[in-house]
Amino acid sequence: MSNEEAPIQQQQPEPEKTPEPAEPAPGPADEVQRSAAAPSADHAEEKSHTFRALVLTGHGGYDKIKLQVKTQMMPAGSGEVLVRVKACGLNFADLMGRQGLYDALASPPVTMGMECSGVIEAAGEDVVDRKAGDRVIVLSSSGLWQELVVVPADQTFLMPDAMSFQEAAALPVNYLTAHMMLFEMANLRPGKSVLVHMAAGGVGIAATQLCQTVGRVTVFGTASASKHEVILQGGLSHAIDYRTKDYVEEIRHISPTGLDIVLDPLGGSDTQKGFGLLKPMGTIVVFGAANCVTGQKKNLLAIAKTWYNQLSISTLKLMQANKSVCGFHLGYMKDLALIRNTMETLLGLYVQGKIKPRIDSTYHFEEVADAMRRMHERQNIGKVILLPEPKKEEEKEEEKEEEKPADVSAGPQEEEEAKPEEVKEDQVQEEKDGKSCTGVRNKKEDN
Ligand SMILES: NC(=O)c1ccc[n+]([C@@H]2O[C@H](COP(=O)([O-])OP(=O)(O)OC[C@H]3O[C@@H](n4cnc5c(N)ncnc54)[C@H](OP(=O)(O)O)[C@@H]3O)[C@@H](O)[C@H]2O)c1
Repeated sequence: MSNEEAPIQQQQPEPEKTPEPAEPAPGPADEVQRSAAAPSADHAEEKSHTFRALVLTGHGGYDKIKLQVKTQMMPAGSGEVLVRVKACGLNFADLMGRQGLYDALASPPVTMGMECSGVIEAAGEDVVDRKAGDRVIVLSSSGLWQELVVVPADQTFLMPDAMSFQEAAALPVNYLTAHMMLFEMANLRPGKSVLVHMAAGGVGIAATQLCQTVGRVTVFGTASASKHEVILQGGLSHAIDYRTKDYVEEIRHISPTGLDIVLDPLGGSDTQKGFGLLKPMGTIVVFGAANCVTGQKKNLLAIAKTWYNQLSISTLKLMQANKSVCGFHLGYMKDLALIRNTMETLLGLYVQGKIKPRIDSTYHFEEVADAMRRMHERQNIGKVILLPEPKKEEEKEEEKEEEKPADVSAGPQEEEEAKPEEVKEDQVQEEKDGKSCTGVRNKKEDN
């Protein structure tokens, strides 16, 4: 039986095997890990904390992500804050990172997670604009799938009062990406037409909502057919089932002259198709390579095919075509002022009711494989959220009740309960064989 078909089983937290090294990944996550792993003499009096973390232990399938219980000091140093995490966002890049296809993630072992929301528990002495009790959104290059994180204060953003922790965890990566592509790169203006691939996903829904903040924008979206009703209600003008139809033909049928903007998260031959669909003065923004991902494990053939078919064009041809080709990658965005300004704009739009992250489903840390499976199997409509807090006994009981077959004499439940293990400060224990994070049914929480 492949892992993808494996039976229901939740992951049990395990003690950390070795102290995690500082991560060399670009961006602020380095600091998250450094301050956590190497407290200075100044903080000798600091008490240690015990917390759960999702650690990528190697590249591959779901079983490579282990739920670990760590005990270490977490001092908020100069310019830093200590945050108790309430919710974390799952991104497509996390699926790619697990497979070893995401350059911006450091080599394993590494704590995953680029976005989260939570409450500040302590602030460094020189931090003036954040205090204990503040509800914040956090953005980092990794290291945030953890119950407690120490992060630079300037990578936190105050949450509006009306915003839930789940919405806050769903916002930064998807909406920053969509906003920067549409407004910084493609200069979206009233009356334009836009193609949004993966239109029912996190970035897709963010892009559709942002297009609606501008007048008279026609939004074409590709998505699996079962999601069309929801995304059309969400403001998409035309939904196309790319799995059964040729989306180029469909778009040409509706808009024979083509499109002004194409957002391309797929890569390979789809970039060529997108470029071909552009009107003169049109812009394609390439921001992903989802075509490289076909399932749980790395697929070398799909990677080679995507690479071979990618758009290759000379500047002379580009000039003659009167078209623009742009690339966008938030993980390599070093302009923190632009990120902060864009976040302010986004939070303003949220307060005005113009954007609202759509939460597809929530999973506890011990169910991370199920969360990833939902995305791999193209089931999500909106954002998949991870919750650091352990699953409550009542929830487990409710699920067992729901899953119970009509014939109660059927065999024993396969699901195991997750029980956190206590590890003493600085104690290093052998890593137990982690149970593979396979198979609990999806718990959809459409809102
Ligand atoms: N460059 C950047 O800074 C940046 C930042 C964020 C995201 N991205 C990219 O944007 C894209 C969307 O990311 P997201 O986090 O919002 O994820 P997402 O769209 O929620 O991803 C899941 C959905 O994508 C569709 N899909 C298309 N190809 C797929 C494949 N090969 N495997 C699984 N699902 C596939 C499926 O929906 P349908 O079948 O309904 O289409 C699936 O439900 C990804 O390519 C990601 O790498 C880039």
